Amino acid sequence: MSEIRRIALSTGGGDAPGLNAVIRAIVLAATRRGWEVLGVRKGFGGLLNDDTILRLDVEAVRGITHLGGTILGTTNRGNPFEWPVTQPDGTLTTTDRSDEVLQAVDRLGIDAMIMIGGDGTLRIAQGLALKGLPVVGVPKTIDNDLAVTQVTFGFHTAVQTATDAIDKLHSTAESHERVMVVEVMGRNTGWIALHSGISGTADVILIPEIPYDIDRVLEKITSRYTIGRNFAIVVAAEGALPADGTEVLVEDAKPGAAKRYGGIAEQLGRVIAERTPHEVRTLVLGHLQRGGSPITYDRLVALRFGAAAVRCVEQRQFGTMVALHPPDIKAVPLEDAVRQIKTVPLDSDTVQTARDLGISLGD
Ligand code: F6P
Repeated sequence: MSEIRRIALSTGGGDAPGLNAVIRAIVLAATRRGWEVLGVRKGFGGLLNDDTILRLDVEAVRGITHLGGTILGTTNRGNPFEWPVTQPDGTLTTTDRSDEVLQAVDRLGIDAMIMIGGDGTLRIAQGLALKGLPVVGVPKTIDNDLAVTQVTFGFHTAVQTATDAIDKLHSTAESHERVMVVEVMGRNTGWIALHSGISGTADVILIPEIPYDIDRVLEKITSRYTIGRNFAIVVAAEGALPADGTEVLVEDAKPGAAKRYGGIAEQLGRVIAERTPHEVRTLVLGHLQRGGSPITYDRLVALRFGAAAVRCVEQRQFGTMVALHPPDIKAVPLEDAVRQIKTVPLDSDTVQTARDLGISLGD
């Protein structure tokens, strides 16, 4: 077995608080083993464009643990198996450049790669692993929708941001006796909505896993005013949908871009205003949830994931992803990690807690 001398790491997909902490842990743990670390800029862009590879040494990762974003940059339009190509007439097509990634890895003398990303990036990692790339994945996403890990880093920071916002909305909602509808991220899962909605004491929480009946939502809002609590807070996951309808998407998504959620708060707000006497205001938290410093929990998980990924490389546990299985971090097969997304289990204690607290889930 050849010795590990040089590894490369990349960050793909949407950013999440904690990415820089993972990078720092990888660089420090690898450097201690005498390895060289290369940082690939902008997902795979750097490997397909070798002017964007950085040498990451201890100096390069000094003071970045608490910083949001990623010093390597990222993209959610960089799948080497479906690399976007703009044709002369402006139309967008895709081409498979995965072989070029393997050639670049060879040319640069990279012995192993650590890829930090969500389900899209880890699916790419799995595809490259099947083609022979020695790769270890690290689970990242604020959505917390990755299977086989208890949590992804970034999730708890996003929940904290959303909870802080819901807390602040209470006073203005109460002063004006309004209904406030807050839209949070999560794609087609309701983790952020459920956790921030319960913690922020929302009255209604709508998640994609429980399609809602608008009459139940209106009943809950009306009951608040009937008992003299003259305001209501509705937290809607961006992927929430009515039992007899579909999710709300952003229509002007660029060709070839991933499906974009957005607009549920506006849609709900309009119906609530039409069908109740109350004033309604809406708020889309959007990318605020992805920004800023990771909270302590995410920093620690991110640092643990980074160090564990280096140990996986050392032990040649390739084709795996590091995963939190409290109290340990384990290596799980990448194929298990990407088989299906993790949705909120309807029989979970957290869902039951919401119901026991009298929060309407719209059903
Ligand atoms: O997956 C993370 C996430 O923030 C989702 O919650 C959201 O739907 C999506 O990314 C937004 O992506 P973009 O950065 O392309 O707007």
